[in-house]
Amino acid sequence: MTVWRAPGRINLVGEHTDYNDGFVLPFALEVGCTASVSDVSAAGVEGSDGWTVRSAQQREPVVVRRSGLAGADLEDVPEWSRYVLGALWLLTDRGVDVPPLGIRVDSDVPSGAGLSSSAALVCSVARAVDDHLGLGLDDDALFALTRDVENDAVGAPTGGMDQLVSLRGEAGHALFCDMRSHETRSVPLDLDGDGLTVLVADTRAPHRHSDGEYGARRRGCEEAARQLRVAALRDVTADDLDAALGRLDDDELRRYVRHVVTEDDRVLSVVRLLDAGRLADIGPLLTASHRSMRDDFRITVPEVDTAVDALLEAGALGARMTGGGFGGCVIGLVPTGSVEAAGEAVRRAFADGGFGEPDLFTAEPSQGAHRLG
Ligand code: GLA
Repeated sequence: MTVWRAPGRINLVGEHTDYNDGFVLPFALEVGCTASVSDVSAAGVEGSDGWTVRSAQQREPVVVRRSGLAGADLEDVPEWSRYVLGALWLLTDRGVDVPPLGIRVDSDVPSGAGLSSSAALVCSVARAVDDHLGLGLDDDALFALTRDVENDAVGAPTGGMDQLVSLRGEAGHALFCDMRSHETRSVPLDLDGDGLTVLVADTRAPHRHSDGEYGARRRGCEEAARQLRVAALRDVTADDLDAALGRLDDDELRRYVRHVVTEDDRVLSVVRLLDAGRLADIGPLLTASHRSMRDDFRITVPEVDTAVDALLEAGALGARMTGGGFGGCVIGLVPTGSVEAAGEAVRRAFADGGFGEPDLFTAEPSQGAHRLG
């Protein structure tokens, strides 16, 4: 049996920049998914030519025959299992003879909170299968496989950040990612050294990519790049921004471009500050990122704006929504001595606003995918 664990993530800054070939700065979380892969006889599915997928969070296993598994068949299996079977299907499609296997997954990443439970699932499975079968996939091939599972097998038009950090994150560091070259560099995030804590408020406001808003933003960005005659919005720099905005006549597209270009610039500024050991100075950039998501990209909802305002009023150095938007989690960079009070401020603001109870916890930059057994 081969066992790997891969984590969920929080994005420190750089939202909706990944599919624009831009920059992101996420870190891996302690919560994650553990995938155990065994040969079918060991998994007790005698004589079958199948793949058996079990989840500790689901009652029923999913069993599929290897022969004839194709993209369309994934529509017939439960959504959670598509991330697992999608990896096996894509490997087969790429010429790997994947034998009968039993795969068991167990995740403690809350689903629907925007913490990339799906990246944790697919990355733990991909690493465990690669290792179990001795495929020897390199970093780039593993990343391409996990991203393609989400884009092609599951059909979610996401940008790759989540899989990249789940595979490559490092404890005590954020991962600076160039989403054009997929080169990454670990940047120290010494929260303890600065007496700071990343406080996370899961707003529990419903969060969905599939509702079309995420895809609409992505298509809008691609249309703006086409009109500006650049390969991707990454190619518009902060210095070019005003001229670029002047060449677009659609106000919606202008706001998307302003968000993406300024957000890329904020990622670079935060990385510069972290490299210089100035963690305590990044707060205003995080808050500016939130305002850009709220006012230009328009992907926030009242719950996340309320959480950000409450954190800032309670003394957070900076606060922002993290992840794809329309709900999910907010992070605050909070002096460790004020964590209790900041959490209480968010709870009070939610009660006053008539929202449901938020879930509050702290996040430590943790290790990316690693072998357990
Ligand atoms: C989701 C997607 C990522 C990224 C973020 C927004 O988490 O999976 O690829 O686009 O939204 O930054």
